[in-house]
Amino acid sequence: MAHVIVGVTGGIAAYKAAELVSLLGKQGHEVRCIMTSAAQQFITPLTLQTLSGNPVYTDMFHPQDNMEWQVEHIGLARWADCVLIVPATADFIGKVAHGLADDFLSTCVMATAAPVIFAPAMNDQMYANPIVQRNIATLREAGYRFVDPVDGNLACGTSGKGKMASPGEIAAVLETLREQDLRGLKIVVTAGPTREAIDPVRFMTNHSSGKMGYAIARQAANRGADVVLVSGPSAQPVPSGVTVVKVASARDMFEAVKAQYDAADVVIKAAAVADYRPKTVATQKIKKSEGDMVLELERNPDILAWLGEHKKHQILMGFAAETNDVREHALGKLARKHLDFIAANDVTMSHSGFGKDTNQITVYGADGRVHELPVLAKEAAADQLLNLVLEKYQSKKALS
Ligand code: C5P
Repeated sequence: MAHVIVGVTGGIAAYKAAELVSLLGKQGHEVRCIMTSAAQQFITPLTLQTLSGNPVYTDMFHPQDNMEWQVEHIGLARWADCVLIVPATADFIGKVAHGLADDFLSTCVMATAAPVIFAPAMNDQMYANPIVQRNIATLREAGYRFVDPVDGNLACGTSGKGKMASPGEIAAVLETLREQDLRGLKIVVTAGPTREAIDPVRFMTNHSSGKMGYAIARQAANRGADVVLVSGPSAQPVPSGVTVVKVASARDMFEAVKAQYDAADVVIKAAAVADYRPKTVATQKIKKSEGDMVLELERNPDILAWLGEHKKHQILMGFAAETNDVREHALGKLARKHLDFIAANDVTMSHSGFGKDTNQITVYGADGRVHELPVLAKEAAADQLLNLVLEKYQSKKALS
């Protein structure tokens, strides 16, 4: 989670700043917004206040009633891990390039030591103007970064290069600013459900969306790890920088994980693996008949139990999605499967479990420590799990 300032200047793309603020919040970042007076002609401070959950800074000299007056722009400049200027008008780019600082946003940009990223949005001719381009070059030279605009339809009725990058692309740039504290680690993550065939058209599965496992893979890659994601069928987008191995059945997943095991430093098993599969798979579609039908099931291999039995240097984290007696079941699995950690959650709770964007996890360690995490976005929860894994890896390394 990072402290992010979103500075909004006066262009029609300001409405997309609202979407960006919402997205950053969902990703677990704490967002504070600053608006120039021109920005307030396009959207209101109330919009960004509601989406960020924080008061919006608009005025240098007349802070809002609920803000403390303590040279706010300097305090905020220090607080930030990153400043995003969304949208960045030609005017604002020119102002910063020439060292002008006469309002809340420009003074904050001038005073911060955090990375500042501009997302320009303007008419294509304005963007192509040599003065604007020179200002951008000056800022780049000084270490400021840009998410370039793209070709597209512009608000002025023309089309060309000047349309602001999407909120998703702007948010993704934040990830490249992350500390690469997992560099050198090979992490295998499993995610999603498995599918066990009944006949050529039917299968057994479960409600797993893959969101938690994909979030772990994404965050691990963002922090520099070499990540292999072994995924059952999932609609989640493949995180960039992650190697994905797609599988269907538990047995496919078993083979894929085994192939990665020797080289892995860490295995995190977030997949919801089917414990049973149909004993025989019909080669033709099963036809209905008058009476009931019985489907005979046989056990699937327990992948994690196998990994536990064959563990050498690897750190193993399992997941326990439970509907009752969470602690007892989790501790049982931790011991039985020789795990280093088990991340347990009660999937009957409204903010946890299948398909949700948030999770409330309690992590039990083999060392007896219990880490109760608050309700977090799955990305933020993933980071906490990775912190525990990293701490364990570093303490193992220090001992060896
Ligand atoms: O299904 P169960 O609650 O035992 O799952 C606990 C952990 O074991 C999870 O991390 C799951 O991915 C893993 N598991 C597995 N192979 C199975 C069943 C579960 O790896 N056949």
